[in-house]
Amino acid sequence: MTAASLPPSVEVFAARRRRFVEAIGAAVAVLPNAPVAFRTSDAEYPYRPDSDFYYLTGLAEPHAVALLAPADPQGGFVLFVRPRDRQEEVWTGPRVGVEGALGDYGADRAYPVGELWQRLADYLSGAERVYYVFGKDASLDGRMIELLRASWAERARRGLALPAFLDPRNIVHEARLVKGPEELALMRRAAAIAAEAHRRAMAAARAGMSEYEIEALVLHAFRSQGAAGPSYPPIVASGPSAAILHYSRNCRRMQAGELLLLDAGCEYEFYASDISRTFPVSGRFTALQRELYDLVLAAQTAAIAAIRPGAPLEAVHDAAVRVLAEGLSRLGLLPGTAAQIVESGSYRAYYTHRTSHWLGMDVHDVGRYRVDGNSRRLAPGMVLTVEPGLYFAADDATVPQPLRGIGIRIEDDVAVTENGAEVLTAEAPKSAAEIEALCAGGAAR
Ligand code: GLY
Ligand code: MN
Ligand code: MN
Repeated sequence: MTAASLPPSVEVFAARRRRFVEAIGAAVAVLPNAPVAFRTSDAEYPYRPDSDFYYLTGLAEPHAVALLAPADPQGGFVLFVRPRDRQEEVWTGPRVGVEGALGDYGADRAYPVGELWQRLADYLSGAERVYYVFGKDASLDGRMIELLRASWAERARRGLALPAFLDPRNIVHEARLVKGPEELALMRRAAAIAAEAHRRAMAAARAGMSEYEIEALVLHAFRSQGAAGPSYPPIVASGPSAAILHYSRNCRRMQAGELLLLDAGCEYEFYASDISRTFPVSGRFTALQRELYDLVLAAQTAAIAAIRPGAPLEAVHDAAVRVLAEGLSRLGLLPGTAAQIVESGSYRAYYTHRTSHWLGMDVHDVGRYRVDGNSRRLAPGMVLTVEPGLYFAADDATVPQPLRGIGIRIEDDVAVTENGAEVLTAEAPKSAAEIEALCAGGAAR
């Protein structure tokens, strides 16, 4: 287990803001944090800040709005936060408050959030360009439109142009795509915690258990190692459940001789891991399961080998597909040569998704996959998953009976380095022999 990682320092967030304001020039950006979400009547979901807001401010409190106004002579980082309130804090815990926003978060100025709209009117009154995301929060959108409308006449009187509205995400997301050393440290930790959860699941799984027992074990492994929780609903898919890509009912009883596909990652200091492993419930792969497992593993190994700076992202997917197509041809599951299977796309009957997505603060992280019409070139600091699979649904009459109800996915999280790749999730066992060694422990108990 790696040493505990710390959240980034206030200087790291300041450096991110500097890059952002360099990109927006003499504009004003209004960045609200995520609203509180309710699960039932007045019971809230655990609060999770908006990834972009947190990335630029380091502040994880709800009801906060950041204003970045680089041209402001008094300093361009303004935070609006909930004021300290003894009565409220008895219920919901201490708040950062105006003093904390100034002292601990590096704001040049800070105000109670109740003053937001009145002060925003001043900040926006002469702005030629405003960065704001419409469409996330209808009530904030309405207030922004009101503010804008109220300024039309005055702008006309002062001879000012009407402001252009721009989406800040185009800038923030490209920055978030390339992780800094402090982010990679947190991602290594998220990966190590989830890898340990997978090891514990392998050791514990056996026929007769319910999928939810494995889910409970995984969630315990996350929380007991300091993660906030899962970074997405864990997929605990035994036997035929594995062919459902985002299966999360996790309520089936696992049968002897089946495979269990476990896709579970955690969130640590707002950074996600995302790991899939597939292992035999009874501790040993059957010969057929082993053949298919080794095929997916060979595809994953080839895909990881394609990761290096300068390589197009598409090369990672292409490498996995080439190996899967060779295997599907060799096993007689699809007609034609491997090249024909790739060319026709017939492999998509059994490999229904793509090989990679970006990973970071969001599990399906931000950043464009294509630039100027071409597959994005990988660069150091980018982090992606590599997750080929093969899925044969229980009712798939196109494959021989013994294959039906088998689903296999192997997923690692990989950072692009200066000269190649670092597999962040390497501590999760992956070869059939390693897996059987660990699963056999569970079967023996
Ligand atoms: N767990 C979701 C995914 O692998 O993309
Ligand atoms: Mn994934
Ligand atoms: Mn996954």
